[in-house]
Amino acid sequence: RMLKRQMLCRLDIDWLNAAFLAIYESLVPLEEETAKQKQFFMLLEKLVSKEWPEARLYLYGSCANSFGVSKSDIDVCLAIEDAEINKSEVLLKLADILQSDNFQNVQALTRARVPIVKLMEPVSGISCDICLNNVLAVVNTKLLRDYAQIDVRLRQLAFIVKHWAKSRGVNATYQGTLSSYAYVIMCIHFLQQRRPAILPCLQEMGTTYSITVDDIQCAYFDQVEKLHGFGSRNKEAIAQLVWAFFNYWAYRHDYANAVISVRTGSILSKREKDWTRRIGNDRHLICIEDPFEISHDLGRVVDKFSIKVLREEFERAADIMQYDPNPCVTLFEPY
Ligand code: CTP
Ligand code: MG
Repeated sequence: RMLKRQMLCRLDIDWLNAAFLAIYESLVPLEEETAKQKQFFMLLEKLVSKEWPEARLYLYGSCANSFGVSKSDIDVCLAIEDAEINKSEVLLKLADILQSDNFQNVQALTRARVPIVKLMEPVSGISCDICLNNVLAVVNTKLLRDYAQIDVRLRQLAFIVKHWAKSRGVNATYQGTLSSYAYVIMCIHFLQQRRPAILPCLQEMGTTYSITVDDIQCAYFDQVEKLHGFGSRNKEAIAQLVWAFFNYWAYRHDYANAVISVRTGSILSKREKDWTRRIGNDRHLICIEDPFEISHDLGRVVDKFSIKVLREEFERAADIMQYDPNPCVTLFEPY
């Protein structure tokens, strides 16, 4: 009878893994979509280089960090080295150029916290935000993409977590919940902490890539092709990892004292970061250190109301993973 029960459990977990993998596969964009994005980007490059021959255009965010689900918007960064430029003027000029090239819904949002030009490409329906000189975002995009190449379980976990966060309405920084970027950082940290570890800490390894952006030195080991198989001693599959991820954020994380840090591959204390009290709008109720802008807490948007929402959602997810007979449906039920 014992053996029969073990076999049943085994079947159960295999079935759950397969179900999560099917969700993951359904979220991955098709080649065709990626190709269209590339085409669109090349068209933008052509238009931009006519006006600013010295400028460079970069993709960043989910269309370039390998954590983009199908039908994501495209994030583009226009990098102009000239220190003299007036940001608003450049963005207005860019909007002008795009407008006269038949792009639709072109809007220059020059007063936003991060000023951008928004546009839509009529044929493919691709939406795109273009910001100016946000090179740090381009570099952290590369870091995320490099981590994703080490072990496929990162991409699987992050897709499931992002999908959960969007379904449950906890992926909106303007409402005090977390950005997609913050969720991916949480996944990287989590896989660094598994025993045996599934991901290494690239910023603690010998530097093979280094760039200084806005006085911040960004350096890490980027020869990730040499790290294939790094996590192979750990046999955990996606269902187990999803369970453990939510369990960590529901019941194990020390919200009062701990800061998660992908940069060091460890947990730091709020005390050593001096993140123990509210300063301005930074409340530090859930502390997620940015890998490069280390004074930057990605959880700073979370306030005393949204922390409750967030923690209840983590608990709900953990409990579903523990007790629900069909977690891969219940987990993503709209809120
Ligand atoms: N970013 C950042 N610091 C933040 C938030 C975002 O540097 N606090 C940058 C990152 O480079 C990130 C990009 O902005 O990759 C886009 O952020 P976000 O929209 O959160 O992530 P996406 O990966 O684009 O997710 P989505 O699929 O939801 O668009
Ligand atoms: Mg995005």
